[in-house]
Formats: sequence, structure tokens, C-alpha cells
Amino acid sequence: MGTENTRISDANIITERYMDSILIEERLIDSKVADTSIGFLGDDFDMPVMTPAFSHLNKYNGRKLNGLEEYSIAAKDCNILNFCGMMENDQFKRIADTGAKTVRIVKPYADSGKVKDQMQFAKSVGAFGIGMDIDHIFGENGLDVVVGEKMAEQTFDMIRGYVELTDLPFVIKGVLSVSDAVKSAKAGAKAIIVSHHHGRLPYAIPPMMILPKIREALKGYDVKIIVDCGIGSGADVFKGLALGADACAVGRSMLPSLEKDGIDGVKNFLLSVGNELRYIMSFTGFSRVSDIDDSVLHFTGLSASGNF
Ligand SMILES: Cc1cc2nc3c(=O)[nH]c(=O)nc-3n(C[C@H](O)[C@H](O)[C@H](O)COP(=O)(O)O)c2cc1C
Repeated sequence: MGTENTRISDANIITERYMDSILIEERLIDSKVADTSIGFLGDDFDMPVMTPAFSHLNKYNGRKLNGLEEYSIAAKDCNILNFCGMMENDQFKRIADTGAKTVRIVKPYADSGKVKDQMQFAKSVGAFGIGMDIDHIFGENGLDVVVGEKMAEQTFDMIRGYVELTDLPFVIKGVLSVSDAVKSAKAGAKAIIVSHHHGRLPYAIPPMMILPKIREALKGYDVKIIVDCGIGSGADVFKGLALGADACAVGRSMLPSLEKDGIDGVKNFLLSVGNELRYIMSFTGFSRVSDIDDSVLHFTGLSASGNF
């Protein structure tokens, strides 16, 4: 038996601790009930909360639609921007048919023809946007292989080529540095998702920790910033917005509600996140999402589970 390794390299745990170490002050006098609506990439949404780019979800409890289709309907009913991840075109068509405004995140396939085909198909069935999760390029044995599909290194020129192929907004997912954020902006991306893709990189910096630097670096670029990883409450969303995001995506936090109660479960979950966000905005004196800043945050360096 080896010596037990007590060091925590899991970025999910590090991220959770960092987020929990940030506290919020109150500013009640002169405050009003806040409005959570946002404009985002030319459209209007009820809140700065988005669904995660998920893939490979089954049908739960014998229900008719699979989890991807169910959460897409919930996103539409809540009037929020929807995301989906790796899938073939027939599955994306079923998501598009729900009527949800959906960004399709395509994998960095080695077969660039497949990337282009999935992009074109997404556009043809009415996708809101298209993107790529660049944090799936590498795997433990070199380049990643996902469900039998080989991935490839992506150069700046390749990404710029994909961006220029479409007139839909292009979203680069898996940005976790100023360097990639600026390259994404220069390649023409309209949005980035600051993310470590639920902990693909050991010791990955919490997305919310790098967010202020990315926000600063993207001043002067017309690029929206979404943050994900570990987001499951209005308080988490509030912190993400205060640290520089335009919107936040929930993740696995959505899954228990999805599995148990399908469309209604996700709707209730998303609405509770939005309600808590409005509550905290009202408590902190920010009437509109665009007003929120980090002046109400306090960085304790502590978390519920001890010193960070
Ligand atoms: C079941 C599942 C499937 C996922 N599939 C994809 C995918 O195909 N493409 C992608 O970019 N991200 C994918 N993700 C990552 C999420 O979009 C998101 O970045 C991550 O779950 C955020 O971390 P959190 O769950 O801790 O909040 C997937 C995550 C899960 C749990």
C-alpha cells in the first residue's frame, strides 16, 4: 500500500473552496427590487444564467425525451441561452426543434471536415451560435480521443478559419488564461467561456480567480464573457458577474433536478437560481445586471473546509 496522498489537485474542489471564500456585503438603503434581464449577443434573455454544454444524456425514468432535449425545453421556457456539446447532427436537430436558442459547442475534431459539417448543419437548423471546447484537445496519451473520435491541436489560424466560415457568433469554451482569451478575441470569437471543464487540468485555477484579469485584458474587444464550473446558485452567479462575467452557466448542479423531474425540475432549478440572484442584487444595491461590480465582495482566503 502506498502512502496516502492528502494533497488536493482536483480543480473542482479548489474551485469550490475559492468561490466559498468570497463573501458579500449588504447595501440596503436606497436599494430597489432588481431586474435580472440581459441583452446578450443581440438578443434579450430573462437572466444571465445559461445551461451547460452537455452531451450524452440518457432518457431518465422512462420519459420520452432525453436529458439534452428536456433541459433545452426548460431553457426555452425560462428564456435563457441554451448550450449543448458533443453530438451528431440528428441529435442537434432534435435540440434545435425544441425552439431553444442554442449554441452548439463542437469538439476540436482531427477531422476538420466534421467540424465544418457540424457548424454548417447547426446554422441550417437555426442555431443561435457555434463554438468549440478547446480544453478537449489533449488527453493523457497525447491528443484526446472522445467516444472513439480523435481530436487535433488547434492553431490560432485554424480557429480563425472556423470563425470566418460562419456568420453566427462563435464561442470559444475552455479559456483559462489571458493568453487564450486575447487569442480568442483576435480570432474573432464573439464570446468565451472561462472554464476548466469540470476539472480536466489538475490544479486548474478557479475560473472566477482568473476572471478579473481576463475581463481587464479584453477591454476594447467586443467579446462577451461567460464563466462556468461549480455554479449552482444565485450567489455563485452573482460572484461571477461581480468578478467580470456577462453571464454564468450552471453545470452538474442541474443534473439531480433534471433526472428526477425533467423539464419542470430544470425550470424550477433555473428559476430558483435566478430568484436568488435577484435577491442578492437587491440586497447589494445593484438594480440591473450591468451595474454589478466587485466592490461588494470580500476575499477572506478562507473556506468552510479550512484555509484555502
Ligand atoms: C455529462 C457531461 C457532458 C459534458 N459534455 C460536454 C461537451 O460535450 N462539450 C463541452 O464543451 N463540455 C461538456 N461538459 C462540460 C460542461 O459543459 C461544463 O463545462 C462543466 O460541467 C462545468 O463544470 P461543473 O459541472 O462543475 O459546473 C460536459 C459535462 C458533463 C457533466
